[in-house]
Amino acid sequence: MEDAGGYGVSLTMPLATSFGEIREYAETDVAALVKYANNRNIRLNLRDAFPHPYTEAHAREFLAIVHRQNPTTFFTLAVDGEAVGGIGLVIGEDVHRLTAELGYWLGEPFWGQGITTEAVRLFTKFAFERFGLVRIFAAPYAGNLASGRVLEKAGFALEGRLRASAIKDNRILDQFLFARVQLPG
Ligand SMILES: CC(C)(COP(=O)(O)OP(=O)(O)OC[C@H]1O[C@@H](n2cnc3c(N)ncnc32)[C@H](O)[C@@H]1OP(=O)(O)O)[C@@H](O)C(=O)NCCC(=O)NCCS
Repeated sequence: MEDAGGYGVSLTMPLATSFGEIREYAETDVAALVKYANNRNIRLNLRDAFPHPYTEAHAREFLAIVHRQNPTTFFTLAVDGEAVGGIGLVIGEDVHRLTAELGYWLGEPFWGQGITTEAVRLFTKFAFERFGLVRIFAAPYAGNLASGRVLEKAGFALEGRLRASAIKDNRILDQFLFARVQLPG
């Protein structure tokens, strides 16, 4: 059992947190996913691959993708057992294979309670160890100040501003590049 920086939990899934846990998705999460992911304020801050409206079919399709993952890199934030958000990684390839992009979202009724900050902190620590990564980065749209704040609080450093690097809803947007680096040894 290893201590995860003050949380006193093992770095294997599920990860115990003060709000509940970070755990693998289950087939029974469909209804909760639709309930919380079908939200314009969430969609606006994510990639277009995150659908809107978010239907039961989308949830099932997503769970099928997760089911096929090897290794699993997409997990859910659960409060009282209910899947109220998501956190996951896309691991790079070739020379980027020790790097991963982090993404996350949380159901709007739970915003502002520090849940995502705790989840990002703990999940990042888990991810460095589990996947042998040296770099984890995230690139929120420049207007997404809450996400930037989450990353800062979770120990990510602001590395720069990626100018005109995304197009969302026909608007060309800058992104902030945040990263945490953990070299071996
Ligand atoms: C971003 C998101 C995950 C934050 O989750 P959360 O659990 O509410 O985050 P936390 O409570 O841990 O921290 C939020 C911080 O942002 C701050 N914040 C919130 N809205 C803000 C705003 N409009 N401007 C500046 N800071 C803001 C909060 O005050 C808090 O910081 P503080 O603790 O210093 O006061 C959530 O809003 C979300 O799911 N958004 C849509 C999806 C998304 O943006 N995903 C990330 C893509 S990169």
